[in-house]
Amino acid sequence: MSDDSRTENVVKTFIESCSDVDLQQRIKFYDQWAETYEQDHKLLGYSAPHQMVDFLNANFSGSREEVLVLDVACGSGWVTKLMTELGFRKFVGVDGSKGMLEQAAKTGLYQDLRQVLLGTEPLLGQTDAFDVVMIVGALRDGFVPVSAVRELCYAAKPGGYVCMSRVDLKSESGAKYKACLEKELQLMEDEGLWTHVISQEMNRYMINVYNDRKDQHDDQYLYGTMYLYRKALH
Ligand SMILES: C[S@@+](CC[C@H](N)C(=O)[O-])C[C@H]1O[C@@H](n2cnc3c(N)ncnc32)[C@H](O)[C@@H]1O
Repeated sequence: MSDDSRTENVVKTFIESCSDVDLQQRIKFYDQWAETYEQDHKLLGYSAPHQMVDFLNANFSGSREEVLVLDVACGSGWVTKLMTELGFRKFVGVDGSKGMLEQAAKTGLYQDLRQVLLGTEPLLGQTDAFDVVMIVGALRDGFVPVSAVRELCYAAKPGGYVCMSRVDLKSESGAKYKACLEKELQLMEDEGLWTHVISQEMNRYMINVYNDRKDQHDDQYLYGTMYLYRKALH
């Protein structure tokens, strides 16, 4: 249900209140946030799910009805909802927050939903299982650690796709995360685990709620990058 008390400033203050917390506290924050998460993100012009689903759709070849999708850090199920509009039908979701998983369950779109806190426990027991692995809005410092990216690749079937978004944050830890992530993506390619299909800059990821960290574009938005990799066949 929509909550009229939510305004852009209320949401910004709410987000600022959890800017410097550890992972466990962040997950508790998402538990509390779950019910108004989508409403609040719409107020902030959060467009990552839309941009990522369009990005995958433009670069994906395969039968959308048949493929099995793993939605990592699925949150309320926003990405999966958009994918169903494009004909994708089979989904498994994973998130660290019970509250967010409860919202995702309400969509009725997932075959299975699992509570997994990446970085502290393994993604899933399944390897070579998914045709598409999506992760949107969670590859950043303080959220899903770079070490979990390998697990996304292991979860994909040989020849399957791994589609990832990263928000650009200008803080020192944000810049460090970016460098670490891009190093790992390249290392995994060098190891023959996957091949890079395409990367694309994101346009206006969402309103910059971190006012002290102005983006290079010098406007009120955050930006980011989308990456698509294809797992090796052998
Ligand atoms: C910004 S939301 C993105 C949700 C959804 N993908 C979307 O784009 O709307 C970030 C999500 O990542 C989850 N998350 C953050 N760190 C995580 C971790 N280490 N393991 C599992 N989930 C995590 C949060 O619980 C939250 O649901």
